[in-house]
Amino acid sequence: MVKSRSEEKIRFGVLDIVRILGGILAFNALLSWWFTSTGTWGYRGRWIDPRYVKFKFSPGYLNLTIAELALYNGSDPKLPIYVAINGSVYDVTKSPGIYGPGGSYHKVSGKDSARVFVTGCLMKEDEFTYDLRGLDQDEAAYDILQWQQYFHNSERYWYVGSVQHDPLTGDPPAPCDHIKYPGRSV
Ligand SMILES: *[C@@H]1O[C@H](CO)[C@@H](O)[C@H](O)[C@H]1NC(C)=O
Ligand SMILES: *[C@@H]1O[C@H](CO)[C@@H](O)[C@H](O)[C@H]1NC(C)=O
Ligand SMILES: *[C@@H]1O[C@H](CO)[C@@H](O)[C@H](O)[C@H]1NC(C)=O
Repeated sequence: MVKSRSEEKIRFGVLDIVRILGGILAFNALLSWWFTSTGTWGYRGRWIDPRYVKFKFSPGYLNLTIAELALYNGSDPKLPIYVAINGSVYDVTKSPGIYGPGGSYHKVSGKDSARVFVTGCLMKEDEFTYDLRGLDQDEAAYDILQWQQYFHNSERYWYVGSVQHDPLTGDPPAPCDHIKYPGRSV
């Protein structure tokens, strides 16, 4: 079969464009590497994370149960790490040193620990819960919103969906007399 000239021309044209674009991208990355030691002009945000791009281009959000959320605690390196705050779930996989095993905030991973984000009472085991009873509700609302916005707007983390709370049973955790966020002057 003989290909028509115009067909060949078009194919050639497309290939050329791909080549030129590839060349420009490679040159851009090279220049960027020269000036900033990164291929992306110093940008390290979530848009260069293939997992974020994939999430952004797939439809819908997660809707987990508390039991499902518990799997994403960082102990299985094949799974992402999730942190939840009063029903909102965030992907924090990018910081395994903080949220993974051995990390300083590992205890909030795979859970909705809204309470500890309000009280900052990290030494008290039963604070790692979404039970907000007994807290100053204005303070709780304010702190929770701040933390949610922090994870929402972070360069490293992103919102992935919601978690449905199981009904609360028993008494709320006892009040905690503490320094808020030990080690920090808050
Ligand atoms: C999540 O699932 C629960 C049932 O498990 C349902 O009641 C709720 O409407 C769902 N929420 C979203 C946002 O899909
Ligand atoms: C942590 O996650 C793993 C799976 O990733 C699960 O098998 C384990 O039970 C979880 N730990 C807790 C305390 O939920
Ligand atoms: C926590 O989430 C529930 C359900 O979405 C909401 O009604 C409540 O106001 C939130 N509490 C705080 C303190 O933000």
